[in-house]
Formats: sequence, structure tokens, C-alpha cells
Amino acid sequence: MSAPLVSMRGLGRTFVSRKGLFGAHRSMRAVDDVTLDIPAGKVTGVVGESGCGKSTLARLALRLIEASSGSVTFDGTDIGSLEPAAMRQIRRRMQMVFQDPYSSLDPRYSIADCLLEPFAIQGLMPPARQRAAQVDDLLDMVGLARSVASSFPHQLSGGQKQRVGIARALALKPQLLVLDEPTASLDVSIQAQIIELLERFRDDFGLTYLFISHDLGLVRYFCDQIVVMYLGRIVEVMDRPDARPRHPYSRALLNSTFAPDPAKRRVVTPMAGEIPSPFALPPGCAFAARCPQASALCKAERPTLAESTAGGRIACHHPQD
Ligand SMILES: Nc1ncnc2c1ncn2[C@@H]1O[C@H](COP(=O)(O)OP(=O)(O)O)[C@@H](O)[C@H]1O
Ligand code: SF4
Ligand SMILES: [Mg+2]
Repeated sequence: MSAPLVSMRGLGRTFVSRKGLFGAHRSMRAVDDVTLDIPAGKVTGVVGESGCGKSTLARLALRLIEASSGSVTFDGTDIGSLEPAAMRQIRRRMQMVFQDPYSSLDPRYSIADCLLEPFAIQGLMPPARQRAAQVDDLLDMVGLARSVASSFPHQLSGGQKQRVGIARALALKPQLLVLDEPTASLDVSIQAQIIELLERFRDDFGLTYLFISHDLGLVRYFCDQIVVMYLGRIVEVMDRPDARPRHPYSRALLNSTFAPDPAKRRVVTPMAGEIPSPFALPPGCAFAARCPQASALCKAERPTLAESTAGGRIACHHPQD
């Protein structure tokens, strides 16, 4: 794989919550000890069930929230130590596309204003006579009619809004795009169009993606490297998208994936067993209560993430072949 654009080392984020009015503080590690390289010009996918820490990891990668431990390096710069002015500079090069195109666009702004906002934030607003052309270019790029410029977000479909979200993220020509479930709220056919658009930008601009999804099937189709998370930790990294997952949790995720075509849908085997509370993780493997392979060792000792014989990395005492 190519040199990393982003390197995370031992990255963690703890959230503290108070249980009841007089209750004790409880803490949970939403992201725990994540070490990961995101290769330049490639697509890294992160998958896992809701609540496993994907959005927290995305926000940490861009330093939209502060890390509790560990570091994030972007193109050789440790972003955790940057002053606000330097952080703003580097943020031009890393942008985020959010899951919900309904809430990520300000309803009071026209689409043209939404598309010009990143320039305004960065103090890079083009002169008035160039603004319309800039907006036209961005709309062309994502396949929207130029007439959309004067519309307001509520007049657009979900797919159109997500195209605006992507155009806005690309306005400042970033190197890294972090996409947090960008197609989760869209119909399957619209989802395919958005993925096609993202593939074109990757090829045309050499963009690097961190692509977050709960759908391992989609990620396998689209990504060069796949990271599977469970309760804040990486449990498996596959460095080839066609690699067969070896971790029992990755296997279960794959089995529960819906194919877009109902005729090709596999029978869904729901995962048995309970997800432990993130506030009180068991001593051993966090997946043990749901894992068909769990042994006494699994319940006693937490498996560490280590190189897998099949390439990539895995945290499991009994990886599957
Ligand atoms: N700001 C926050 N304060 C407290 N807990 C949070 C906060 N953000 C996320 N969490 C918790 O961290 C865990 C991971 O959340 P998140 O990163 O949103 O997961 P995902 O995106 O995979 O669904 C969840 O248990 C969630 O409740
Ligand atoms: S360590 Fe044990 S319980 Fe955990 S996933 Fe592997 S086999 Fe299952
Ligand atoms: Mg999320």
C-alpha cells in the first residue's frame, strides 16, 4: 500500500457520564487504542454496528473532538499539538461528509450559499463576480443542474442534498475526505450513484477516503482496506477487500448484510447473545457472549490485535480459516 496520509497511534476517546442526579460518574472508551494507517489515494473502510465508535473515530481523525490519548498525524504533522490558526489551515486539506444530508445543510441558506460557505469560513471567498462560476463548477462536478443554485435545501431530494454535501466538502480541494455513513439514509439506487461519484473523484483527484459504514458488503465493494470495530476497538483489519474475514464478529457482520437485490439476499442469521455495556466491559474478549467459538481463554483474556497470517491484523484467540 502507498505511504499513509493519516496515521493514528494508540488513539482513544473517553466519555464520562453521570448516572442520575447524585449518581457516580461512569466512563466509557468510545474509541480505545486505535492504531491505523490510512494510505494516500486509497479507500479505508470502517465498519461495525451502531455505537461501536465509528463517528467518534471520524471526528478524532479530523480533530473535530479532542483525543483522550494517542495521536493523529496528517501528512507528517501531529495535528493534536497544532494551534487554532495552524489547525484551520490544515483543515482545508481534510473534509467531512455527514450521514444526514437533511441536517448538515442550513435550511436558511440557498444552495449557492451552502457551497460558498467553506470559502467564507477559510477567508478564501472569491470576488463577487467569480462566485456564480465557482458555484456552477461545483454543481457540474457532482452532476447537479446549475439551476439548483437558487434552491433551498428543503426543495432537494435526499440524493441531491448529499451531492451538495459532497460538493461542499470538495470545494477547497482537500486531500482527505472522511465520509460518515454518507449513503445510509438514501435509497439503494441513489446510494449506488453516490458511490459511483466518489469512485470517480478518487480516480480523478487521487483523493484519500475514510469511509464509514455499518454495511460490510458495501465496504467490501468500495474499499481497499477494511477495518472492523467492536465496542471501540479494532478487531480486524483486512488489507484486501476480497479477503475472507477471519474474525467471528466480521463473519457475523458479513452474514447479516443485505444484498441490494432481494433475490440475492442471504438468510440473515441474527447475532445471538447480548452486547456488553460499554461502561462495564468484561475482562476477556468483548465479543465472547455472542461468539460461537468462545472458549474459557476468551472469557479470561482479552485478545490483542496482531498480524494475521492471511495479511492484515486480527484480535481473536481462535481466528477462522
Ligand atoms: N458526546 C458524547 N458524549 C457521551 N457519549 C458519547 C458521545 N458521543 C458518542 N458517545 C458514545 O460513544 C459510543 C460510540 O458512539 P459513536 O462514535 O457515535 O458510534 P457509531 O458512530 O459507531 O454509531 C456510543 O456508546 C455513544 O453513546
Ligand atoms: S477471542 Fe474468542 S470470543 Fe473473541 S472473537 Fe475470538 S473466538 Fe470469539
Ligand atoms: Mg455514527
